[in-house]
Amino acid sequence: MGRLEGKVAFITGAARGQGRAHAVRFAQEGAKIIGVDVCDSLPTVPYPMPAKDDLDETARLVEAAGGEILTVVADVRDQPALDKAAADGVAAFGGIDTLVANAGILSSEGPAWEITDRAWQELIDVNLTGVWRTVKAVVPRMLETGRGGSLVLTSSYTGLKGEPQIAHYAAAKHGVMGLTRSLAHELGPHDIRVNSVNPGNTETGMVVNDFSFGLLRPDLENPQRADAAATLRQLTLLNVDFIQPEDIANAALWLASDEARYVTGIAVPVDAGWYA
Ligand code: NAI
Repeated sequence: MGRLEGKVAFITGAARGQGRAHAVRFAQEGAKIIGVDVCDSLPTVPYPMPAKDDLDETARLVEAAGGEILTVVADVRDQPALDKAAADGVAAFGGIDTLVANAGILSSEGPAWEITDRAWQELIDVNLTGVWRTVKAVVPRMLETGRGGSLVLTSSYTGLKGEPQIAHYAAAKHGVMGLTRSLAHELGPHDIRVNSVNPGNTETGMVVNDFSFGLLRPDLENPQRADAAATLRQLTLLNVDFIQPEDIANAALWLASDEARYVTGIAVPVDAGWYA
């Protein structure tokens, strides 16, 4: 019997990266998946965003793992679209037990006072307000069924410490921590646990495509990669440059499962010791 047998998981940012890893890992453990992604580019995001084909590929992988998935193209900034996704998910699978609010973007490196209004606003809208909007869409559905459950909100190591050059990102991810802890208070009486995962540098499209971390892409023959990877390794206690999406998915799986039934209001850094 799978660790999420009989559960339904609503996962945002499911088209690739960590969201895809969550969808596949959860399906391997018996969960039915509602996989949501915007499948479009955003004006201030400087790296390629996934397309509908990528979300379809997630669906293929979930089905190959023996799972069932409903895919929905929706933007986490669009409350009616999220509400509809939650309603369609409930109609398809009979309820929602777990939310993984994972969708996020990264943009414009530079000191805080040089970040443009547009980049600030877009990032806060997706990475913080988008998490809140997703909670607004899903939690009432969970309360309706009254069967409890678990929310896993994706923060970051930058939700626990400052990070120069991406203050808007760190501010949003700190905001996710405040949301996590407040929701844990509000939802505890309803037997819904609320925790965050806090990834370290994870090898996904966000950091390996056409952005400063493009230097680190392992399949590129870039002489600077070795230096950059060595720097990253020094920041961890386990001599790791990149965390893999599956490592974050395993932490989210534990938080979503009944194995963590008395765990709420905490942050789970998966960062090879970066934050220690
Ligand atoms: P990714 O770029 O591969 O995946 C992010 C997904 O979110 C994409 O599929 C994207 O289309 C989706 N998305 C973005 N904006 C959206 C919107 N408005 N509505 C719906 N979907 C949207 O990156 P990754 O690494 O998988 O990111 C997952 C989460 O992990 C994000 O919240 C990110 O901030 C966080 N994170 C990532 C780290 C890393 O090093 N990769 C480190 C710490 C946190």
